[in-house]
Amino acid sequence: MSLLSDTLARVKPSPTIAVTTKAAELRAAGRDVIGLGAGEPDFDTPDNIKQAGIAAIEAGKTKYTAPDGIPELKAAICEKFARENGLSYTHDQVSVASGGKQILYNALMATLNPGDEVVIPAPYWVSYPDMVLLAGGTPVIAETALENGFKLTADQLEAAITDKTKWLIFNSPSNPTGAGYDRAALKALTDVLMRHPHVHVMTDDMYEHLAYDDFEFCTPAQVEPGLYDRTLTCNGVSKAYAMTGWRIGYAAGPKPLIAAMRKIQSQSTSNPCTISQWAAVEALTGPQDFLAENVTLFSGRRDLVVRMLNAAEGVTCPNPEGAFYVYPSIAGLIGKTSAGGTVIADDEAFATALLEETGVAVVFGAAFGLSPNFRVSYATSEAQLEEACRRIQSFCAGMT
Ligand SMILES: Cc1ncc(COP(=O)(O)O)c(C=O)c1O
Repeated sequence: MSLLSDTLARVKPSPTIAVTTKAAELRAAGRDVIGLGAGEPDFDTPDNIKQAGIAAIEAGKTKYTAPDGIPELKAAICEKFARENGLSYTHDQVSVASGGKQILYNALMATLNPGDEVVIPAPYWVSYPDMVLLAGGTPVIAETALENGFKLTADQLEAAITDKTKWLIFNSPSNPTGAGYDRAALKALTDVLMRHPHVHVMTDDMYEHLAYDDFEFCTPAQVEPGLYDRTLTCNGVSKAYAMTGWRIGYAAGPKPLIAAMRKIQSQSTSNPCTISQWAAVEALTGPQDFLAENVTLFSGRRDLVVRMLNAAEGVTCPNPEGAFYVYPSIAGLIGKTSAGGTVIADDEAFATALLEETGVAVVFGAAFGLSPNFRVSYATSEAQLEEACRRIQSFCAGMT
């Protein structure tokens, strides 16, 4: 009898973590490596939030809490949804977990039965299909196209829905492409969902506050109030407030779903870290100026990276609306040979040769379900980004 479960055989380890680990190994071995794989801001949690965590420790707020969050944080979350998204929720419609990842996982565990399908637009955040598989469901991948800015069209959504579809997982701005759906693009999708009352929407709004130029973030239940009872609106403090290590994510949705998610969490991890919950109260209710400063910083980096990558031979890099990623195509390089002798058969070969020959770590597109591309995270300094893009340019120029 095997020690490991059959379920485990269905999932793969996170490829983004694998790239970060490989880059760290090369760095430890003395190589000059620039990591463009990280999925987190490169700066510290704002001081007022840190101080709230310290104050919580000093006040002895270090014990168990209600499994899905303290009332003060639920109140801050309800107020956030009302203020920023025009959505009205009560405390029993809100769940707090150890990161956005756990929120999504709880929701899938609480709802999927064998045979249930979950529509996932590709390219997707690496964890979606594997979480669906872990929960016993079937991912149905709906491929988007670079020509449409990597956005799912109404026809593509319609074609992916069957009578077994339970969820659409929606993510805007997106990891890995940065693509953001404006109100019209999102309305086209919610119109399709209104025609299929058995389909629910799990919207992952983690990058809400990282949106550039005149792009206005919107979320499905806001755009189509008719979907309110079928939508789980997921968010978190990790990316917006540079709090990835604090592990706080949250969601709001229908009461029975929230109760089911609480049940799962109460029998697995229990409450998210008490100290982090108090810090998250400060993040959501304290000064928000930090968010606008980040937007200025990140949009400048995006402009730099898009310009320099488009100047690389064989690379096409769309200009996305948000997040801190770009997802260039390397269709123009497939079949060529790098200066170090690697045949660029696919995007994995490209990323491996790029790391080995130039010390630049990126994540290959196949990991996100759409090839031939690679993902660049620009959550690193301008100087590092410029140097990395220069190396990518000469790597591409050196191909024959
Ligand atoms: C699209 C998306 N959703 C969710 C998460 C998970 O966030 P957290 O760190 O809060 O679990 C990430 C993190 O990379 C993400 O990119």
